Amino acid sequence: MTTDSNGDAIPLVDLAAANKEISAEVLAGMASVIESGAFILGPELSAFEEEFANFTQTRHCVGVSSGTDALELAMRAAEIGEGDEVLVPANTFMATASSVVRTGATPVFVDCDPEHLLIDPEGIAAAITPACKAIVPVHLFGQMAPMASIQAVADEHDLVVFEDFAQSQGARQDGKTSGSLSLAAATSFYPSKNIGAYGDAGAVVTNDDRLADTLRALRNYGSSKKYEHPIVGFNCRLDSLQAVVLRIALRRLDAWNASRRDAARRYDQLLDKAEGIRILPCRPGNEHVFHLYVIEIMDGDRDRVLAELQAAGIGAGVHYPLPLPMTGAFACMQQMAESIPVATAAAARVLSLPIYPQITAEQQERVVAQLMAALRQER
Ligand SMILES: Cc1ncc(COP(=O)(O)O)c(C=O)c1O
Repeated sequence: MTTDSNGDAIPLVDLAAANKEISAEVLAGMASVIESGAFILGPELSAFEEEFANFTQTRHCVGVSSGTDALELAMRAAEIGEGDEVLVPANTFMATASSVVRTGATPVFVDCDPEHLLIDPEGIAAAITPACKAIVPVHLFGQMAPMASIQAVADEHDLVVFEDFAQSQGARQDGKTSGSLSLAAATSFYPSKNIGAYGDAGAVVTNDDRLADTLRALRNYGSSKKYEHPIVGFNCRLDSLQAVVLRIALRRLDAWNASRRDAARRYDQLLDKAEGIRILPCRPGNEHVFHLYVIEIMDGDRDRVLAELQAAGIGAGVHYPLPLPMTGAFACMQQMAESIPVATAAAARVLSLPIYPQITAEQQERVVAQLMAALRQER
């Protein structure tokens, strides 16, 4: 689907609109990296890491090559591995669980709360076994999971918490920034994220000095000094050209998140009288950054509504069509389906409407008009 300015298709995410704002600056920054030849672990990366650590109110940021690698390395640095169980939400993107598998540990899926579709702290407590070592709450769709309740369960059972804040850069809870409330937090700079690179990239943030050193070694062949490898590591560094993009985008992130919030408020108003839908609310104490604007089709056939919207050029989406235990990779765990009734019901109802900082009121009115027309046909 192409971008829109006047009456054409409206994409789910409009990367071209964001890039238009920054591309001149990015090209100049890239030109200077190309001239310097400092492509790997250079000054642009160090500068970004310092700026992103400040932004997330943490002591360290370690740039890596994707959000998936960030999750895996954070868990490996804390010695999560074979024989361990890690609790993850059933309702999240695949990488939250696949990264657990990559460490050698086993993901155990937890249902979500029916209001916000975030991991349910009561479900966490019920899923804990003696093998359980960690919890990965996901700050899904742009708002933070209930960290105080999650931390309380973790403390009681001596579990480590790792935030997955791939979808919540800049979100806050009771004044605390997402990424700052766990031993280590992983994020993704996949291009469509609230702050996105021009390719794959990610980062781990932490307040733990030793963990940060281990993470820096793990991303760089297990080495902190050339040709010395006290541990076996990987090659998964965030490269300097991506750091150029991210430094420039980071300066806009608060403003972009504010625009997303304005757009979400506008949808809330436009959908105020709509029947047969439910708007996912913001939890008290949360400052939402609307990575996605998600509603549920309560009264009707979501897939038909989605098809109608797409046929009308509206780039609506579904996050996510299946709870993770029901995806092929985890099919062997399907016996868990009955333990995640909320995520299973939500998967059939959720619908994401286009949202990005540059979306216009007129575009949103068109999205809602098409949605209303599709809903009317359900009646
Ligand atoms: C919640 C969540 N976790 C992890 C990831 C993985 O990040 P990446 O695609 O950079 O590997 C993503 C997005 O892609 C995500 O949305």
